[in-house]
Amino acid sequence: MGAAPVDATATEAWARLTDLASGFAPDLRRQLADATWVERSTVQAADLRVDLSKNLVTPEIWRALRALAVEVDLPARRDAMFRGERINVTEDRAVLHTALRRAAGSDLQIGDTDVVEQVQAVLHRVYAFADAVRSGTWLGFTGKPITTVVNIGIGGSDLGPVMAYEALKPYVQTGLECRFISNIDPTDAAQKLAGLDPATTLFIVSSKTFGTLETLTNARLCRAWLLEGLGAGDEAVSRHFVAVSTALDKVAAFGIDPTNAFGFWDWVGGRYSVDSAIGTSLAVAIGPERFEEFLGGFRAVDEHFLTAPLEQNVPVLMGLLNVWYANFLGAQSHAVLPYAQSLHRFPAYLQQLTMESNGKSVRWDGSPVTTATGEVFWGEPGTNGQHAFYQLLHQGTRLVPADFIAFATPSHPLRDGDTDVHELLLANFLAQTQALAFGKTADEVRAEGTAEALVPARVFPGNRPTTSIMAPALTPAVLGQLIALYEHITFTQGVVWGIDSFDQWGVELGKRLAVQIAPALAGDTAVLEAQDVSTRGMIDYYREHRAR
Ligand code: F6P
Repeated sequence: MGAAPVDATATEAWARLTDLASGFAPDLRRQLADATWVERSTVQAADLRVDLSKNLVTPEIWRALRALAVEVDLPARRDAMFRGERINVTEDRAVLHTALRRAAGSDLQIGDTDVVEQVQAVLHRVYAFADAVRSGTWLGFTGKPITTVVNIGIGGSDLGPVMAYEALKPYVQTGLECRFISNIDPTDAAQKLAGLDPATTLFIVSSKTFGTLETLTNARLCRAWLLEGLGAGDEAVSRHFVAVSTALDKVAAFGIDPTNAFGFWDWVGGRYSVDSAIGTSLAVAIGPERFEEFLGGFRAVDEHFLTAPLEQNVPVLMGLLNVWYANFLGAQSHAVLPYAQSLHRFPAYLQQLTMESNGKSVRWDGSPVTTATGEVFWGEPGTNGQHAFYQLLHQGTRLVPADFIAFATPSHPLRDGDTDVHELLLANFLAQTQALAFGKTADEVRAEGTAEALVPARVFPGNRPTTSIMAPALTPAVLGQLIALYEHITFTQGVVWGIDSFDQWGVELGKRLAVQIAPALAGDTAVLEAQDVSTRGMIDYYREHRAR
């Protein structure tokens, strides 16, 4: 275990923040009337313009939050991460996802290993593979080029690749398609394989551990589907299966040719791995050049996080704001609302990044946390969310800070007659943050001629906090920047709370129990009888009602 973290709640800054929170009466109408406030609250990280002005903070609160970052040693911990120190203490590992996007030739030596050289060597193999598939020189067993790449993986071995593929669809090579199988529900494999030709389909089995039940089961289902479809034996596997893993011995044991395997390292957490070989499906889809731009985006925000002063450091400021809302204003959740349909999987991706990282009750030395941690992250693209859950954001009783994300240039410019439809989307993006911030008073409602009895229902309280992130367009580079931004926000919060944001012990118990329970579903009475009464009841129900 590592040395005890600084207890944030025992710092001077925490005491100051507690004072500032008590009786805090935010007034965004007044605050936003001050143009200098908006100017001071708008910061930039690479291509991301981040307007923090519609948040429930004051200059004093900002000062205290930055002081908190200093008191908990955030800069030192950040530097330790980038240097490759073993800050993932419960797994005794370095945390070096930032090394995945370092410039070729830059220097990062851990012991005898040149980490950047190691990363570049794998990247070059991934790129050669991607080029072979894209150019049609990689041939399937029957001699046909590949048209569909199916990534089989779950959690970090799925959410990043599928989110980025969906986000960057305009960059995908014509004639190539990626599909993603993750769930152990056989419906997932059945639906994703439907309509595919085994002769032109290539599978990428992506699993850091190569021991994940879902992924190995789906890989076996896909192998059987392939061989049956081709009417071939195991000799066909090497033309249709490649793997990405840190456990290359297990890849070989599964029957995948080690020459078709791309490695990565235990210092890359699953949820931080989309920019490792786990992104191979994306590299095939958008090509090495675009993938390099994607990595460059991460790198630009890494640089910013490392070098920008705290008062301009976007991930630090956004992480501190989240702490303010979660620990001082009682927020339990945080919405992420992309005004870009292409980012429709981004909230799901962020759920793993943030909640698997910071959903912890003990600190990195094993002692209990001293304050609430890990908000619930959620969201949907605007404008769909507006017609679903925004009612609660506007008039509900809960505080839900929200990040709004939009792009100046649309992925698909379409016009409705004279109207640029993207402008309608952006108008909604702007309108929502205005409505949330400024609300509508009872007098304003009355002035519209509303009957007195209906006035209360039509009042919008306002003072609902939002952060607005804008970028020129959803390019590979900008997507890399957005991901790195949220990685470092997550890190910032984890440091304040003193937790190890890089382990995930909380997922283990359920996995183990599922393996233990499975025989009871198949009829093993001894296992059935060992279960609690509730579980037995459900297994009995299953066995009675299962249609065969
Ligand atoms: O169950 C959680 C988890 O371990 C995630 O952290 C990880 O991203 C996912 O499972 C998949 O793991 P693997 O890549 O080893 O198959």
